[in-house]
Amino acid sequence: MTIRILCYSLTGNTRHVAEDLGRALDAPVHLMEAPGPEKPGLWSILKLGYRVMTRARARVRVPEIDWAASETLILGGPVWMGRLSVPMRTWLETRPALPDRVALLITSGSAERPETLIEEFTRLTGRVPVAVLHVPEAAVKAADFAQPVASFCREVLGRSEREVADAPQPDREMVE
Ligand SMILES: Cc1cc2nc3c(=O)[nH]c(=O)nc-3n(C[C@H](O)[C@H](O)[C@H](O)COP(=O)(O)O)c2cc1C
Repeated sequence: MTIRILCYSLTGNTRHVAEDLGRALDAPVHLMEAPGPEKPGLWSILKLGYRVMTRARARVRVPEIDWAASETLILGGPVWMGRLSVPMRTWLETRPALPDRVALLITSGSAERPETLIEEFTRLTGRVPVAVLHVPEAAVKAADFAQPVASFCREVLGRSEREVADAPQPDREMVE
């Protein structure tokens, strides 16, 4: 099964989980890039939050790949103001060709599952994600997300827990 991961990550949390998923699924991780502060302070967060609320667009750079040719595409990004980050929303609004099977990786400051974001994602992609992995920031920092990653991989692969646990762990480098 061809699986690709496309990830936007401003401060590295989503990217960290995406890299783990990439190793677990033997899937390349591609990065969506957009201008933004690496360590956003309060003022930058307020400005980014304003951009979410006003549905502003970002200058987004995405690798030129035929995403629809993958059997499953995992899209990853943070929660911003309860919604998709501006770069991810901007890209999805361009209506890129996507495979039928899409899955969603989300990280957030809060432990609450971001239902509004999931609805927004479903509306913009026209697809109900085959699997959703939500990892709160505290779990990312504590490296405490092996269990949800395993369940997510199972759902993406449509395999049993045993098969996933027994699968060899490839040592894959990040690709852009
Ligand atoms: C502009 C902005 C808005 C955010 N809004 C929310 C929010 O509404 N709810 C939440 O739980 N976390 C929110 N966060 C926290 C991020 O979702 C969280 O830190 C996430 O793990 C960051 O992922 P990243 O490091 O991949 O960018 C926000 C962060 C930023 C920068």
